[in-house]
Amino acid sequence: FIKESVMDGVQVERHKTFFSLDSYICCGCYLLNAVLILDVYSSSMKMHWMARLLKMLLQNLHFKRFKYDVFNNFRLANFSIAYDDRKTLPIYPYREELLQAVNDHQVLVIVGETGSGKTTQIPQYLHEAGYTKHGKVGCTQPRRVAAMSVAARVSQEMGVKLGHEVGYSIRFEDCTSEKTILKYMTDGMLLREFLGEPDLASYSVVMVDEAHERTLSTDILFGLVKDISRFRKDLKLLISSATLDAEKFSDYFDSAPIFKIPGRRFPVDIHFTKAPEADYIDAAIVTVLQIHVTQPPGDILVFLTGQEEIETVDEILKHRTRGLGTKIAELIICPIYANLPTELQAKIFEPTPEGARKVVLATNIAETSLTIDGIKYVVDPGFCKIKSYNPRTGMESLQINPISKASAMQRAGRSGRTGPGKCFRLYTAYNYHHDLEDNTVPEIQRTNLANVVLTLKSLGIHDLVNFDFMDPPPSEAILKALELLFALSALNSKGELTMVGRRMAEFPLDPMLSKMIVASDKYKCSDEIISIAAMLSVGNSIFYRPKDKQVHADNARLNFHTGNVGDHIALLNVYNSWKETNFSTQWCYENYIQVRSMKRARDIRDQLEGLLERVEIEITASPNDLDAVKKAITSGFFHHSARLQKTGAYKTVKNPQTVYIHPSSGLAQVLPRWVIYHELVLTAKEYMRQVIELKPDWLVEIAPHYYKLKDVEDTGSKKMPRGQGRAAMD
Ligand code: CDP
Ligand code: MG
Repeated sequence: FIKESVMDGVQVERHKTFFSLDSYICCGCYLLNAVLILDVYSSSMKMHWMARLLKMLLQNLHFKRFKYDVFNNFRLANFSIAYDDRKTLPIYPYREELLQAVNDHQVLVIVGETGSGKTTQIPQYLHEAGYTKHGKVGCTQPRRVAAMSVAARVSQEMGVKLGHEVGYSIRFEDCTSEKTILKYMTDGMLLREFLGEPDLASYSVVMVDEAHERTLSTDILFGLVKDISRFRKDLKLLISSATLDAEKFSDYFDSAPIFKIPGRRFPVDIHFTKAPEADYIDAAIVTVLQIHVTQPPGDILVFLTGQEEIETVDEILKHRTRGLGTKIAELIICPIYANLPTELQAKIFEPTPEGARKVVLATNIAETSLTIDGIKYVVDPGFCKIKSYNPRTGMESLQINPISKASAMQRAGRSGRTGPGKCFRLYTAYNYHHDLEDNTVPEIQRTNLANVVLTLKSLGIHDLVNFDFMDPPPSEAILKALELLFALSALNSKGELTMVGRRMAEFPLDPMLSKMIVASDKYKCSDEIISIAAMLSVGNSIFYRPKDKQVHADNARLNFHTGNVGDHIALLNVYNSWKETNFSTQWCYENYIQVRSMKRARDIRDQLEGLLERVEIEITASPNDLDAVKKAITSGFFHHSARLQKTGAYKTVKNPQTVYIHPSSGLAQVLPRWVIYHELVLTAKEYMRQVIELKPDWLVEIAPHYYKLKDVEDTGSKKMPRGQGRAAMD
């Protein structure tokens, strides 16, 4: 039955997918009928219609989970649609020409509009042309979610299981096997692969995708792959970008040829607001509802700056549409951001049912990394969250900044892929023309380089000033990074990697976190410290606070803070309590804790434990010595110390700057005299997030090269002679 229903010219792998469908056949008679009909009609056109019928039936099934499973497997099984889809992408007519160009040149710059099929198709073409016979095809993505979702899509198109022939690798999650020939990964992961395989011997092609994003890791990769391409003549290098500044890439790669894939674009109407919006979140919500009520069918894409904003908008939209009841058509809200669990990520690609409208609430990820079909309306508030770094003070913080004109154009373009679109910019035309920069500054010029410098040093690259950067970072930033690594004892005074530095480089974490872990050996608390590091790495998604149960949620959270232990220790308490309940899901519900985040923390912790073994640090616990744990944290984060001022604000100790404890901190009401913070976030004020109390003499004890006694004299105490205290506090 299965073989007979296969069309001419369809490859063998494809009918395998029918088997995966048949386990579901017994679950639903709808399906059974449809598949039987499929058997009768085997020509391509009818197959297509049958497939659509099947899809409609599936959409009417009422069991949600079942529907989801069936739906996904159906996409896998439905080869005729996937097959046609591949041929309709703008890149398809250029397949042969592209393969010829790859054959003729070692380095090729590829330019094509977002959605033309670069990321999903090129690696497959290369595979079909035999490049995977002698090595893997690696494709880097600046974003985790993009690497995962693209790999999932390609595995579906090829009809293989994700993690087998097609896999992905992102920090703390390796979904590949020995079989993997097409490997999608974050640019940061490929950078780390250089540590184990400096010539990338297992790769036959490396595609640095989304090159226009110019992330820090991508920029460093440029230098490294350019270098190895000189002595590995068999390695093919593809640099692909969604924007037209390809000349720059070409110049950098010794005048590599540029391959252009002409895109299809429909006109997009751009609407600006007449006056600046006071609250862009509110404006975005109102705009979405207006589009929903007044505009013809078509999905909406809203660009927000991060998870918190997305969750807020999600909640408010749900609330308001519920209020309108059946007066309006169904609005399906799909959030997408880096920490969103994988199963929910897939939801944004599900076709919108007839009569409903989908609104995708996305971070910058949807600007170029991900293409969602069916978007007709874009709402662009004009902001994004970026890490910014002040090399003078060495301070780094997450900030919400206006986007560039280039980003605004990309965002607008998302609405005109499949037909004419509309883009609603929540800023004025004057703003656009006069206030927005033309392009976003490459990350390398606005970020802390400590991590990269440590990686390059461990790769044996010592002369950083003369490294072949496409756009060199400010030399101040390199110096600051060297200084920081020296202060963390990762480098010696000659700038060479120390034993501590070598150990630190093994951890895929920021140097301060790695140092905290390495230092935990000394304080005999590595067990606690890796739990803390894992919990910090999950981000701010541990606790949740439903609107209608805020008081309960806050009380539950405060339980972990008993004794004003500080946020790091509270995170440790959460982890340990969860572990004591044998990782119970029920316990998470009862304590308003996100079980998914906890599971992720557990995964990360397991990996950190493995890495500890690799650097020969024993697992030791000091459950009754919180000071030991805090000292280990201080060993990594002594730069992040701050002292309370009379005003209730804090001042950072070195490079004085006024900062505040984030309201979500357990110490927000306690205001200890001295604190260490994990990170700074700039929202309404410059906030310290994740804070612990500290004894100032620890700073001198732990980092004598950095702090002198005079830095930490507690001049604010009442016993001090008045004038002296005042002077120091000013
Ligand atoms: O890389 P580029 O922007 O040129 O395009 P792509 O990511 O290869 O996307 C090609 C097509 O695949 C688009 O129509 C996407 O909507 C689709 N796609 C998808 O449906 N699901 C994914 N996870 C990724 C891509
Ligand atoms: Mg792409």
